[in-house]
Amino acid sequence: MNICKAKDYKELSRKAANIISAQVTMKPDCVLGLATGSSPVGTYEQLIEWYKMGDLDFSNVTSVNLDEYKGLAPDNDQSYRYFMNTNLFDHVNIEKMRTYVPNGLEPNSKKACREYDEIIEKVGGIDLQLLGLGHNGHIGFNEPSDSFTKGTNCVDLTESTIEANKRFFESEADVPRQAYTMGIGTIMKAKKILVVVSGKDKADILKKVVCGPVTPEVPASILQLHPDVTIVADEAALSEM
Ligand code: GLP
Repeated sequence: MNICKAKDYKELSRKAANIISAQVTMKPDCVLGLATGSSPVGTYEQLIEWYKMGDLDFSNVTSVNLDEYKGLAPDNDQSYRYFMNTNLFDHVNIEKMRTYVPNGLEPNSKKACREYDEIIEKVGGIDLQLLGLGHNGHIGFNEPSDSFTKGTNCVDLTESTIEANKRFFESEADVPRQAYTMGIGTIMKAKKILVVVSGKDKADILKKVVCGPVTPEVPASILQLHPDVTIVADEAALSEM
């Protein structure tokens, strides 16, 4: 694992954006695996800035997002489709038709998951996967468990994830209890993985992810086995290491 230290969130965002920017420049028709949450917001802002300066071209890029809440419509302002549109897609020249997010409105979980796996296969897999890190070590919405997931799956969110994500909703009761998420097997098949981690509240889990045993109880620990992972973290997130 390559660990890249940043002074603060701003520097972290620039470094992460640099890596994505290099990917898009070297392979303009690449497939980017994208993430939501607060961690990648600054990275997206930086990419938008460079796009506006004429330094980046997303016209041939395809994207597949990690996850989506089950039951939320794309125009619901808490859906991850809405997040991606407002935080990135609406501001750059990516073809919306080539941006994929699991279908939160599909009530049949098996169908939703199968269809999303077919999309990932059809686009030829992921060149660069961007990840945030949940406080319990989850990636996407792959929660701690007794085994690693393979393909897209429907998960029951843990109490700690519901608690962490309630800040985006009017009340805790509004947080959906289930989500569709890309599986760990699919994430591990990405050619490159970029993880952005910020803040003191992530320091303990980041240490477990990097230095602890590889275990499905800390889903992100499996990244230790991937040949090309870069973690960009700020000083606060690295403070326990
Ligand atoms: C959510 C998302 C994850 C994200 C995590 C951390 O649960 N499903 O993909 O990495 O939150 O979010 P944040 O970056 O806001 O801490």
